[in-house]
Amino acid sequence: MFFLVHLLSFLLLSSMVQICHAVCLDRSLEEREEMANVVVTGTVKKVMLDDRDSNRGMYKSEIEIKRVLKGENVVNQLANFIDPVRQHKMVMVDGFGDPHICENEVHVADTKIFLLNKGYNGELRLNSSILPITVVNLNYAEAVVKGSNHC
Ligand SMILES: *[C@@H]1O[C@H](CO)[C@@H](O)[C@H](O)[C@H]1NC(C)=O
Repeated sequence: MFFLVHLLSFLLLSSMVQICHAVCLDRSLEEREEMANVVVTGTVKKVMLDDRDSNRGMYKSEIEIKRVLKGENVVNQLANFIDPVRQHKMVMVDGFGDPHICENEVHVADTKIFLLNKGYNGELRLNSSILPITVVNLNYAEAVVKGSNHC
């Protein structure tokens, strides 16, 4: 009986994991960077609920950009404020919480690598999983953006 309960919970868990995998899809970082028009590192300053029907359950964030790895002109065009002290640009990004994206959650004060695209509404939108900032990720992201194929 004890065994059976364990077996059942195992089956339940693995089917839940499968459902999760079916919903979100992570392509290779190379493909994802190619798809994204904008790749930046930045810090989340504010998080707010997105109340538009098309974005039900999602939220948007104000992000202070640290470095632009790709898409400088798009960022300049969409930056709505420049921090007068540090000269960092601020952008609004929506699409957080999108179930099609595996790593889709941010919290205030997180500093991450974001892969973005201009959405249908003209705002920047999260295009694929958020990456933690590590030396490996940064080097790789830069290399891929530059088109040099090391790794
Ligand atoms: C990412 O951008 C591509 C190209 O614009 C688009 O086709 C795709 O739907 C976007 N993905 C998400 C999750 O918004």
